[in-house]
Parts: sequence; structure tokens; C-alpha cells
Amino acid sequence: MTKKIAVLPGDGIGPEIINEAIKVIECLRDNYGFAVELENGLVGGSAYDETGSPLPEQTLALVRDADSILLGAVGGPKWEPLDYSVRPERGLLGLRSELNLYANLRPALLYPELEAASTLKPEVVSGLDIMILRELTGGIYFGEPRGVKTLENGERQGFNTLVYSESEVRRIAHNAFQIAAKRNRRVCSVDKANVLECTELWRDVVTEVGKEYPDIELSHMYVDNAAMQLVRNPKQFDVMVTGNMFGDILSDCAAMLTGSISMLPSASLDENSKGMYEPIHGSAPDISGKGIANPLATILSVSMMLRYSFDEAGLANRIDQAVDKALKQGLRTADIASDNTRTVSTSEMGDAVVSGLQQS
Ligand code: IPM
Ligand code: MG
Repeated sequence: MTKKIAVLPGDGIGPEIINEAIKVIECLRDNYGFAVELENGLVGGSAYDETGSPLPEQTLALVRDADSILLGAVGGPKWEPLDYSVRPERGLLGLRSELNLYANLRPALLYPELEAASTLKPEVVSGLDIMILRELTGGIYFGEPRGVKTLENGERQGFNTLVYSESEVRRIAHNAFQIAAKRNRRVCSVDKANVLECTELWRDVVTEVGKEYPDIELSHMYVDNAAMQLVRNPKQFDVMVTGNMFGDILSDCAAMLTGSISMLPSASLDENSKGMYEPIHGSAPDISGKGIANPLATILSVSMMLRYSFDEAGLANRIDQAVDKALKQGLRTADIASDNTRTVSTSEMGDAVVSGLQQS
């Protein structure tokens, strides 16, 4: 069956990096019989400029109808003065919640060729391979009540609510154990159970679900300690599972261990493995339009899409190998360049991956 992919380039470098990912998808279609149909949609600031909404109805209809979604990046200084309700980020959060994409997979993988790019010592990070699983549609990001009110004394007070129901914790916990079963069989659940009741419940439910997976080792860690352990000895982790806000923070930290946030893809999945795939990095308005952005995280997002939504591990492996090959050839976009490497443009990097794919 032909797969329908909704393509949402978004803002900043989004369109440039998405172009390279499309080359890769088209190469799979032309050379490996991957039956696919692509349709573009607007999201983020560019959607706001054209329609007045960061997530127009037309885009919602497109993504609901698609088998999977490929997103570039959203946001930029141009839209920062806008009201919170129409900011580009609302487009992203709206997609997550409207499609119920509750399971956010953020791998932090260090490529041997890029070891020098990490700010940590090579022996601390070499061989690093962590999967952060972030709950994406609940917690303090979506909890009610929320807002800013004015108290009787005239002072303003801001408030948000951290809330998780058992079922929300249970389903993400299952994802964590199932992912760990295909990796190194260790899950570390991150909470703040010493202070926050909501996360004490989180810990209880994860422990309960863990009993169904006796061959997976489960540990628990407070979030402050987890942040410290990530920079002290990151290789102790296999799968880390946590709530929305802790996952936001820890995944940036984990990404930086690899030295190149521009290399890392992500997947956001619903209960039926329909997913939205995007690079972890942002829209990088400072370099947009210059043709120097790194397209590899977006290309690797296509690989994750094939693996997690389309059950095409063979094709996913081909992409991963083609990326590896381009790096081994010494090709680098400016963000990951070092001595003895050749700095290439966004499209040259995309072309190198495509040519590696054609030869595989
Ligand atoms: C992320 C980003 C988003 C988040 C922003 C852009 C809303 O930081 O995907 O990690 O906080 O979830
Ligand atoms: Mg973030």
C-alpha cells in the first residue's frame, strides 16, 4: 500500500533540510520500490503569516489523513512578539496533542567520527547510545488550570498544573519496556518523587508495569540526580523514561553529550505507531537561507519513520549506513566540521547520502 507522508517544512532552515530528506525518500521510491506519496502543508510562523494560524485547519486535515508526518522546524524571532496563542510553537504542541502523539523517542547517539565534537572527554562519551523516552501530551505542558491572574492586592500570579493520570503513565511505561527489550534491557524512570506527589504516582505506576517485564532491569532516579549523572557518566543509561517537562530538559542535555544536536532525529508516536518525525534541533534562523545547515538529523528522522511507523527496518538501515558512509568520507556541514574534514553545503550533504544509498 502506498504510504502517505505529510511534509511540513515549517520555518527557518526547515525548508532547506526537508528538501534533502525528500531527496532521500524519492531515492528509496525510485530505487527500492518504497511506494510513497508526499503532500506539503504549512505549520508554524510561515503558516501564521499565510493564514493567521500556526496550525491551519487544512494542515490538521492533511496530517490526520496521512500515515506519517515529516516536520522541519518551527519558530523564529520574527514571531516572538505574537500572542502566545498564535506563536509557532503552538503549532507544534497542537500537532502533538491533536494527533495524540504521546511517546517521544529522542535517541542520543554518538557517531565515532564526531567524538571530538562533544564538550565532554572522549572516554566519557565514546560509544554513547541512550534513548530518552519523553511523555509528550500530558504533564505540566497541558495541565489545567493554567494562566496568569491578578490577586486582590493587585499582584499578578502565574500558575501551571502538573498532572498525570495512571493510564497516561502506564502507556508510556509500556513503550519504555518494549523499547528496552530491543536494546540493552535497562529502563531508568526519572521523577521528583521526593517532592511532587504526581511523580510519586508516576514511580508507583512504572514499578507496577515493570512487573510485567521481569527480564528488563528497572531503576528510578530523581531528575536533579539524572541531570548530574548524564554529564558525569552517561553510559550508565540505556532507556530513560520521564514526563513532558523533565524530558524536554534532559533530552537537550543528552543531545549535547553527542556534541552535535544537528545530528539527532526524533519520533513522536501515537498508540498505533502513527508518528511525526523531526530533527531535535530548532529552526536556526541565524543560518537560514545560507545553504549551510546540517540535513542529517532530518534524513535520520526519515530512517526512524521507516523503522517505527512503516516496519521497514531494512530501508532504515540503508539510510543509517549511507549517513555513516558520508561521515566516513570526511564530509561535514559547517556545524560538525573539524581538521581533516571537507566542509560541504546542505545540498551536497544530501546528495552524498543519496549517492551512498544508490550504491548500497
Ligand atoms: C522540544 C521543544 C518544544 C518543547 C518547544 C519548541 C515547544 O523545546 O521539542 O523539545 O518544549 O517541547
Ligand atoms: Mg526542548
